[in-house]
Amino acid sequence: MIQVVVTESYDASCAYVADMICKLVNEKPACKLGLATGGTPVPMYKKLIEANQAGKVDFSAVRTVNLDEYCGIPGTHDQSYRYFMNTNLFDHINIDKANTYVAQGMGDPAANAAELEAKVYEGGVADLQLLGIGNNGHIAFNEASDTLHATAHIEHLTESTINANARFFARKEDVPTTAITMGMGDILAAKCVVLIATGLAKTEAIRGLVMSDEITTHNPSTMLKMHPNAVVVIDKELAEAVGYKG
Ligand code: PGA
Repeated sequence: MIQVVVTESYDASCAYVADMICKLVNEKPACKLGLATGGTPVPMYKKLIEANQAGKVDFSAVRTVNLDEYCGIPGTHDQSYRYFMNTNLFDHINIDKANTYVAQGMGDPAANAAELEAKVYEGGVADLQLLGIGNNGHIAFNEASDTLHATAHIEHLTESTINANARFFARKEDVPTTAITMGMGDILAAKCVVLIATGLAKTEAIRGLVMSDEITTHNPSTMLKMHPNAVVVIDKELAEAVGYKG
């Protein structure tokens, strides 16, 4: 079941989710967080950094697992998701990096997928899984398609995703065309899932998620409707574009 939270602004959405995470960590210091990359969570991560530096939250016992990683670039590459997590969050908070996991983009893809799958369940599932959403409704790198995968696997990125992510690379040709990702079952296994979306490019994807009861593999986010504790945080601008009235 989806709980939709409509906020005044994108900044307020980020504050809402940062508060949820701080509350969880304060209640359960050794919790497990499922984390996401992309442009959307960056200001939310800044708020977590501020809270940590102000002594309001302690990440020293927290464990994390990330949703996905590009294939073919190492964790030292400035567009890898390991690098993203280090520079946007881990380097600035008191987390033990040994307790953070981002899948391997280099090496044997099948072995890397098996490792990611094991990490999803190691020591228990995530207490909270943070999510963004693609313009095409993808969740992590589970792309809109006739079929979806339940477990960790290698995904061929769609043109829509490559175009959307090209802004982070010098040239569109530099965007990796494959990625390793948690499957839909891995994501739905988390105790709570929290999705942040902003921007009118997400209108169709969010409409499919919050305006009907339909589930379709062509908008993978709609599978979140089967989760008992899914929260979708959108700002007023996106809610209005979608026609969501509450
Ligand atoms: P974005 O990406 O936050 O950069 O829009 C979200 C996603 O593709 O899941």
